[in-house]
Amino acid sequence: MSNPFSAAQLWALADEFGTPLWVYDAATIRERIAQLQAFDTVRFAQKACSNIHILSLMRERGVRVDAVSRGEILRALAAGYQPGFDEPAPIVFTADVFDPATLATVVEHRVPVNAGSIDMLDQLGAASPGHAVWLRINPGFGHGHSNKTNTGGEHSKHGIWHGDLAAALAAVQRNGLTLVGLHMHIGSGVDYAHLQNVCGAMVGLVEQTRAAGMDLQALSAGGGLSIPYQAGGDRIDTAHYFSLWHAARQQAEAIVGHALHLEIEPGRFLVAESGVLLGQVRAVKNQGRSHFVLVDTGFNELMRPSMYGSYHAMGLLRRDGSQAAEVASVVAGPLCESGDVFTQGEGGVVLPRMLPAAQVGDLLVIHDTGAYGASMSSNYNTRPLAAEVLVDGGQARLIRRRQTVDDLLALETGL
Ligand code: LLP
Repeated sequence: MSNPFSAAQLWALADEFGTPLWVYDAATIRERIAQLQAFDTVRFAQKACSNIHILSLMRERGVRVDAVSRGEILRALAAGYQPGFDEPAPIVFTADVFDPATLATVVEHRVPVNAGSIDMLDQLGAASPGHAVWLRINPGFGHGHSNKTNTGGEHSKHGIWHGDLAAALAAVQRNGLTLVGLHMHIGSGVDYAHLQNVCGAMVGLVEQTRAAGMDLQALSAGGGLSIPYQAGGDRIDTAHYFSLWHAARQQAEAIVGHALHLEIEPGRFLVAESGVLLGQVRAVKNQGRSHFVLVDTGFNELMRPSMYGSYHAMGLLRRDGSQAAEVASVVAGPLCESGDVFTQGEGGVVLPRMLPAAQVGDLLVIHDTGAYGASMSSNYNTRPLAAEVLVDGGQARLIRRRQTVDDLLALETGL
């Protein structure tokens, strides 16, 4: 659990910008980037937090970017990334399918493609001979903090099945594409045991690629680095993480007979701990034995507890700074849906949390929400998207204005 902001700072931001509000700390992001400098390239999986001002901050620190949709490519361009095939490419597009508009954008801007299906290779080859490609391989196993974030194995739709590598390499050749490298991402929240297996699988794939008479320039370790959501939780040892991948890279280099570039592609690790979501208590009530603290932010903002049963540390701040005695509280949002509860576990089981007795007007701080927070928000219940603020060197800057209901209605009126 991380807390980059003081209570006074958060009250000042809530007063200036209103709630719900996403707040990010630039220094925390820069610190996380520095922790991965041993890798040749750090590529940010922007799905975790795709605000263009966060992407610009990444770009200024030499971080490259991954895009998984046409929209994310356009975001990277808006943030100043200049695409192209020179390695390490500023933008890489990772997906399992193309739609025609995305294919056209990838071709127009010369964005290398990390292909998760052989059909993509055929479609790309027809549109853009010579295009730079990575192959995203599903090694036949995966691991995630929840089943929904496990991206390997036969139950996952992601990647080219490891047994189809030869067919994928043949598709690269048949379509006149240029192979850059091999990529694996088996899920979010990878442990060291799985990491060892991924590294081993990668070396095997490099052997097969070489045996097929093809060369490579780079390997991608994918993302999946976890962060300690629980207070006192284990922090990933990035030096150890690197050493496992570096050993695999050395084995792969011995096979190909030249140096290989090593990329890592985290989302959560770079941004999760930089962010908090601020809400305000609007009602407090007891329903039988349950003590509900109802706030003005719901799963339309932060979906992770409802979607995966994810734990986020929370704080309640009284304006006068006083500390109330703790009570077991169910913290819930304003949405017209029973599952709109932040204190829940996997399968929707409600888990009351010991928190200072809440009063209307108290500020709710939900920690570690910089990743998969704002980027997963929706307009459910016709609730406009919340504003985002970036704090850098003591200065707070609005980086996304609060959406209005008029913005939403404008999509449907005057057609
Ligand atoms: N690379 C690829 C190809 C991915 O699919 C992902 C995440 C990443 C990198 C970054 O993974 P990370 O380092 O952030 O774990 N919404 C879920 C996470 C879904 C991740 C999907 N892919 C959550 O809130 O936990």
